Amino acid sequence: MEVREFALHILENERIEDKLLDPPFLTDLDPGSPLFLREPARAHNIRFSAHTRGERKKLPPLQELYDIEKRAVCLHRFCGHELLAVEMMAYALLAFPEAPTAFRRGLLFTLKEEQEHVRIYMKRLEGLGLTLGDLPLYKHFWRHTPFITSPIRYVSMMSLTFEMANLDFAPFYASAFRKIGDKESEELMNRILLDEIKHVRFGINWFHKLQQRQDSHDWVEYCESLYPYLTPKRAKGHIYQEEYRQKAGVPDDWIKKIEEA
Ligand SMILES: [Fe+2]
Ligand SMILES: [Fe+2]
Repeated sequence: MEVREFALHILENERIEDKLLDPPFLTDLDPGSPLFLREPARAHNIRFSAHTRGERKKLPPLQELYDIEKRAVCLHRFCGHELLAVEMMAYALLAFPEAPTAFRRGLLFTLKEEQEHVRIYMKRLEGLGLTLGDLPLYKHFWRHTPFITSPIRYVSMMSLTFEMANLDFAPFYASAFRKIGDKESEELMNRILLDEIKHVRFGINWFHKLQQRQDSHDWVEYCESLYPYLTPKRAKGHIYQEEYRQKAGVPDDWIKKIEEA
């Protein structure tokens, strides 16, 4: 199967099974011409919630996570984000056929890891008595696609903002789940963290390779790539984790700037 066909399959078919398709062999011989899809197909059971911006329900507070249902609410939200990540990466594969082959290969590899994240969250949800789609699913990343107009804007927004924030959120919830003795959910979050470090590393490496002006300051170009819809504030969670950013290869001055953002 061709990568383009695979990406189209994910976005044009509506069932979760289609979004989790795992072809044994993929080639990228014919990436085609740029295609900017506005929205993915979603079956009724995984359709987007009809809320408007700002109406998303807040996640339950940490002190309520001893309650299985509250924990399931958190994991359901995270699982929804993983599915969005799968779709975003398929979107980028279709939007940037002219990007370097190695970039597309890395993006495809990351997409497959996001599919695996969806699977492991779904499995954990099942253990907690919930199926993906039982609670609202939000459009979130899809609201940003009009601004993902180049590979560098893609890595800035996805890898270096949303995925980077997960370097704080994943350990935050791993620790919360550990405190209440939910070992399975804790291990799940730790697994996500390890993959997310790789995804941020992909972002930072490609950010440098794709930079328009080699003399420009990283930080300035990053902020410009997010403008006008996002700010670097979105690249962090409640408790700032310098260590995982270092592990991902984020330059020290960048780490400082995000912390101060
Ligand atoms: Fe993920
Ligand atoms: Fe990721």
